[in-house]
Amino acid sequence: MHAVGIVAAAGSGLRLGAELPKALVRLGGRPLVCWAVESLRAGGVDEVVVAVPEPQRAAFTAVLPADVAVVVGGDTRTASVRAALAAARELADVVLVHDAARPLTPPDVIGRVLRALAGGARAVVPVLPVVDTTVVVDEGGVVIGDLPRPPLRRVQTPQGFDRVTLVDAYARLHGDATGFTDDASVVRAAGIPVHTVDGDERAAKITVAHDLALAEHQL
Ligand code: C5P
Repeated sequence: MHAVGIVAAAGSGLRLGAELPKALVRLGGRPLVCWAVESLRAGGVDEVVVAVPEPQRAAFTAVLPADVAVVVGGDTRTASVRAALAAARELADVVLVHDAARPLTPPDVIGRVLRALAGGARAVVPVLPVVDTTVVVDEGGVVIGDLPRPPLRRVQTPQGFDRVTLVDAYARLHGDATGFTDDASVVRAAGIPVHTVDGDERAAKITVAHDLALAEHQL
């Protein structure tokens, strides 16, 4: 089974408050994007394509290993993944889409996703239980309902797909379909069941400065 990894790294990282795109921000002295690429490889992915912001293309190329393909991403995560998917070679059987913003994802998580795909799943996501009470609020911030906790899950990356399934699901999207925040939603919108495997707290997404401080501590 030939596996291609796609790293979505074309976001601005405004919420992190850095002057650089988030994926170039350093953790333990290395850019986040390099951590994400290395964990995909350590988990068993054969080759990697990274989607980057156009203005910083050269800066990304300078820090990434020479055998990593670099493509220019888009205005939305969906557009970035679409661009990288177009660059993924057709020899790939499966595609794992990963956030550059999850640098410390243990290789075990990638292994679980790959094994589920090898076992016949067409789409699989790593998930964790929800530990907080989760509510719905109205526009004024007043709670108008709560969600039953047992069936809720937090979804992480990498998300794994049979390549043809993912390509077909993206082909059905009109424009950049900004409502999608991950790839499993794109595939589910095409009617494909999405399976789950255990995620890992260490695969947490770095969004705000506190998350980066926690990751430094974790190292
Ligand atoms: O914004 P958020 O943290 O949800 O982004 C998740 C991942 O998607 C990040 O690694 C980010 O670099 C990537 N992204 C992208 N292209 C965009 C927006 C986000 O590749 N236009």
